[in-house]
Amino acid sequence: MEPEENNKVILEARQGEALKLENPPVSNGKKLFLESYGCQMNFSDSEIVASILYKEGFSTTEILEEADLIFLNTCSIRENAENKVRQRLKTFKKLKQKNPGLLVGVLGCMAERLKTKFLEEEKIVDMVVGPDAYRSLPELISEAEGGQKAVNVILSKEETYADISPVRLASNGVCAYISITRGCDNMCSFCVVPFTRGRERSRDPESIIKEATELFEKGFREVTLLGQNVDSYIWSGGGLKKELLTEEQKAASTNFAQLLELTAKIHPDLRVRFSTSHPKDMTDEVLHIMAKYENICDYVHLPVQSGSTRILEMMNRGYTREWYKQRIESIKKIIPGCGISTDIISGFCSETEEEHNETMSLMEWAGYNFAYMFSYSERPKTLAERKFKDDVSPEIKSRRINEIVNLQKKLSEEKTKQGVGKIHRVLIEGTSKKSEEMYSGRNTQNSVIVFPKENYKVGEYVNVLAERCTPATLIGMVV
Ligand code: SAH
Ligand code: SF4
Ligand code: F3S
Repeated sequence: MEPEENNKVILEARQGEALKLENPPVSNGKKLFLESYGCQMNFSDSEIVASILYKEGFSTTEILEEADLIFLNTCSIRENAENKVRQRLKTFKKLKQKNPGLLVGVLGCMAERLKTKFLEEEKIVDMVVGPDAYRSLPELISEAEGGQKAVNVILSKEETYADISPVRLASNGVCAYISITRGCDNMCSFCVVPFTRGRERSRDPESIIKEATELFEKGFREVTLLGQNVDSYIWSGGGLKKELLTEEQKAASTNFAQLLELTAKIHPDLRVRFSTSHPKDMTDEVLHIMAKYENICDYVHLPVQSGSTRILEMMNRGYTREWYKQRIESIKKIIPGCGISTDIISGFCSETEEEHNETMSLMEWAGYNFAYMFSYSERPKTLAERKFKDDVSPEIKSRRINEIVNLQKKLSEEKTKQGVGKIHRVLIEGTSKKSEEMYSGRNTQNSVIVFPKENYKVGEYVNVLAERCTPATLIGMVV
């Protein structure tokens, strides 16, 4: 997942989309304000939540003062992410004084991590709902309306919301996310996700293909298949885990490479992306499928976390520096020119200067197009919290992350420059943020390109000659 906690997204379901729901809602006159923090998975879950509440007759609003119900879909990945939510909750106090009927609900990972403790810590909260409990939202809202505090944080081994057709929120009508797995079984020692999202489970491929096909028919041109570790996707009919399958069942099951192929076959004009790949599980089979289909984008997000084998072992990542390099080499060989991005954690427990430099040299070697870079933040209950000391000082952490960020800036800029003078096939996603006269879109490697609108339309593919660039954006014109 690409963490998006810096770009808090205010989600507004668009009228047009709401009407496309199979059972158009009868309005109950109440308005929902829904705000999402964290990764794409949370964003995608918010669309499930909106869909469930639409059926109950709620409409959505972007204006806080209008809301009868405020939901924050929260993230626990780093301490900062949680602090942001607590700050946000404080700003609701005045609103509640003005409107005593206003309900505040906390959804997602922080709800799951803190459970009923949330109600003690933040008096303003009326509902605490974990990521597998969204089907029970209508009952929980009724309970809260009756004056009780409402909580459901039960995690499920089966829930995938496969049958719920998400309302597309804050969407450009071109790109959409589709969740293919939920939860995570990996237990990386720094990570809170296995505690907040529960066991890994895969979603029925038929429901995934149906959702993608419907999106294409509605005019969407890009889908991103989402999971904490897409490579461990496996569907055997009953949702059983790989380890529990007989050889025969395994042969008859659908793995990620096969799911990717099925999605690519929907239509050549439907771009397919996915996130996140795991270095220990990413197979050459997946890479060959990517190479075989033009509409599967040449872009892999492959989080490395650290360039040091000793640190990787402490992180419980399941691979070494050499193994990771070999995976990158495979990508470069099978998909020449493939865009590659990564996640990095700097300043993990006991990380030495030498090990920090190993991360830097790996970044340089890989030549990442983009990276999401974080200082290590100790999370309660994780393996690292229990076993290791968070002993890299804040000053050293801050210097190291700065070095990493600066290096990546240089690498990204180099990659962008390499795109100048070339023709890129671009899917038009919308008006550029900087200029009304320009469109913005991405090439297959996920680089942003802006160009004059002329008479082209959002959702169309165009060939753009990149003439110049800023550090992160190509600028050109349609040829
Ligand atoms: N499933 C994805 C990661 C999801 S979390 C994967 O395995 O790659 C997104 C990113 O947040 C992680 O890749 C990691 O770089 C970062 N992260 C997770 N826990 C963290 C922590 N405790 N401190 C700092 N960064 C963390
Ligand atoms: Fe967290 Fe590791 Fe699972 Fe990613 S693979 S969500 S980092 S436990
Ligand atoms: Fe995503 Fe944050 Fe939860 S990164 S899975 S919302 S802890």
